[in-house]
Amino acid sequence: MSEGTRRWLGLPRVHHRTTTSTNDRARELAQAGAPDGTLVTAGGQTAGRGRQGRAWIAPEGRALLMSLVLRRSGPLLSLAAGVAVAEVVGLDAGIKWPNDVLTADGRKVAGILVESRPQEEWAVLGIGLNVALRGDDLPQELRGRAGSMGRAVEEVETVLGQVLAGLERWLTASEGEIVAAWDRRDSLRGRGVVWAGGHGVADGIDGAGRLVVARDDGSEQRLQAGEVHLEPGPGRRVPDDGGSDALES
Ligand code: BTN
Repeated sequence: MSEGTRRWLGLPRVHHRTTTSTNDRARELAQAGAPDGTLVTAGGQTAGRGRQGRAWIAPEGRALLMSLVLRRSGPLLSLAAGVAVAEVVGLDAGIKWPNDVLTADGRKVAGILVESRPQEEWAVLGIGLNVALRGDDLPQELRGRAGSMGRAVEEVETVLGQVLAGLERWLTASEGEIVAAWDRRDSLRGRGVVWAGGHGVADGIDGAGRLVVARDDGSEQRLQAGEVHLEPGPGRRVPDDGGSDALES
């Protein structure tokens, strides 16, 4: 879908040169009654946050920092967003469950944070995408794990248009389409994973977006939130960035 046919996401738009977190601003707008598709962007964040209480650090002006207010999101919202962002990053981009987008060399180029209040009929979809990150932009300890699209600073706005167009497609796709597209980019499949309740080998996702794990004793575990870490082993290079979300079910 081209930018010209975009009709739902991105209006109204509020842009901050710097703010604490675009998710904070979008949550406030959602609570104040902002319409479906309202977009908040920022050049920089002073308190950007990721999943599991982690911080999200991005150099001013070099990353796409955006949050959308959504009022009709489906159960696979965060997976669908991962697929949309991965498509913009490129053909080789992978996804580490649930929605870390990785470059072909296994570095995390984008993160997605969904915060929702279903009883108030809103969800905030926050996306941080390293469009023009340079090697020395981040603290030393993050450099080996962070990826970049390698684009120019001037292209952040173009990439925003591409992400919005991709989201329009994937947020309205069927669950089957989302799972199939996600599966094609699955970076964890076949890798050993560890979580609080045990360890096993990642075996894709189920129709509810849970990570399916095959345990050594032949049983199957489905994880949906909390922490999951990689076990060392062969396979496509995937960074263990401190874990993905997992909860046994
Ligand atoms: C993660 O991978 O842990 C999720 C990172 C999400 C970061 C984005 S940046 C825009 C939006 N505002 C935030 O504070 N977080 C999200």
